[in-house]
Amino acid sequence: MDSPLAPQWLSHPQDTAALDHKIFSAGVARNSGEVTVQGLGVTELVERFGSPLWVMDENDFRSRARQYVDAFNTAFAPLCGGVDVFYASKALLTVQVAQWVKEEGLFMDTASGGELAIALRAGTDPAKIGLHGNNKSDDELQTAISKNIGRIVVDSLSELHRVEQLAEQLHLRANVMLRLTPGVDASTHEHIATAHEDQKFGLSMTPAPGEETSVAYQAVHFAAATKHIHLVGLHSHIGSQIFDSQGFETAATRMLEFIAVLDAESIQVAELDIGGGYGIAYTEADDPAGPEVIATNLARHIDAETARLGVDCPRISIEPGRSIAGPAGMTIYTVGTTKTVWVEHGGEHYPRRYVAVDGGMSDNPRPVLYDADYTAVLANRVSDVDPVFSRVVGKHCESGDIVVNTVYLPEDTNHGDLVVVPATGAYGHAMSSNYNMLTRPAIVAVKDGAAREIIRRETYADLFAREVDL
Ligand code: LLP
Repeated sequence: MDSPLAPQWLSHPQDTAALDHKIFSAGVARNSGEVTVQGLGVTELVERFGSPLWVMDENDFRSRARQYVDAFNTAFAPLCGGVDVFYASKALLTVQVAQWVKEEGLFMDTASGGELAIALRAGTDPAKIGLHGNNKSDDELQTAISKNIGRIVVDSLSELHRVEQLAEQLHLRANVMLRLTPGVDASTHEHIATAHEDQKFGLSMTPAPGEETSVAYQAVHFAAATKHIHLVGLHSHIGSQIFDSQGFETAATRMLEFIAVLDAESIQVAELDIGGGYGIAYTEADDPAGPEVIATNLARHIDAETARLGVDCPRISIEPGRSIAGPAGMTIYTVGTTKTVWVEHGGEHYPRRYVAVDGGMSDNPRPVLYDADYTAVLANRVSDVDPVFSRVVGKHCESGDIVVNTVYLPEDTNHGDLVVVPATGAYGHAMSSNYNMLTRPAIVAVKDGAAREIIRRETYADLFAREVDL
């Protein structure tokens, strides 16, 4: 029965065993009732590697990465030769993941000295690395300049001046892209929208009151005239988990209009990076467009706008993170305790079943940070018992420690069962913590039917590892 407590979008499942491939990675199936990844059952994976467990479907990750490269290159080839696809490594980064990215022909977007270190350790060609950050340290900038990475994405005028000084001291020329805020209000959670005026990222394109020119304009002129800076191009990123193509198109238009202004002043902008942010399906309510549709629409828009403005199409780059890593990953949890509470709604009381698992906000803080919705399935078996309205929660000492806020699970889901939460490949491990001194799960990569750990599970010894003078 539908629960009156359920949100509008959540449908009562006909079949609780069904796996929606809009949400699950391509390698996920059921075999004799059990969820498998490329033929490997979740029970066996947990026996070998423990629980909870992050599982990355490596074939799926690689194929999504390739799809972005292929789709954007096909769509943009007639306009500007091709597109450089930078994987936004903040979504999920380990040395091996960086190697997958490199092998599939993508470039690497990093956002800190740590991410840069991992990209370099993986053998990524520095020319194919970008470094972001609104507050990079001198140390991070010096590394980026001395390694001669392809682009330091400069975020402010003060940083631009610092890059110039550091490059001069090093007797080098820094490759610089300027990140601008095109003033777009992207339709997403406010903590992950990044192109409106009143937030910390980027150089504003709107002149301040009483000023004739914007800081973006001043920065371009400074960069173009400076010996120790090579101005690679301009950058914008409007936010993350975005489904509506309108925001990307508006941002592209504003950037191209600015490029046309500069063009008239004989400043040629060779490259335009339009960032990442393509949304993925976490639940049945989400309907993301695939890379082909996104690329075709953007190419059509940019083609029309460059023609209207009479400018050459700059070389385009993009920075998808979540849409490559997210759907390729899933988390396996083991069920511990359960209980049912009765919730008042419209004068009546309705049941909500709580299913507690062995992880939580330390392996996925997204529900607590952004009210993010997920889904879950009973994974070690199928059940013909009716599904009941449920909430999957973690084991942390916080009532906000929610793993899946609303989902129908078979009523007999119980102690020792395994549940799988799909679409956790991005911003799960990347944002994980040791809250309550939980040890972080291993990451297992499954490729061509074989599983191997790429990040081992933490142990209690790891919890002591940074203690001094024990
Ligand atoms: N490029 C830039 C400059 C970015 O700041 C980001 C994400 C991306 C690319 C990649 O965006 P994606 O394609 O993954 O959406 N922790 C949040 C997401 C923060 C995103 C920050 N920047 C979450 O879990 O939803």
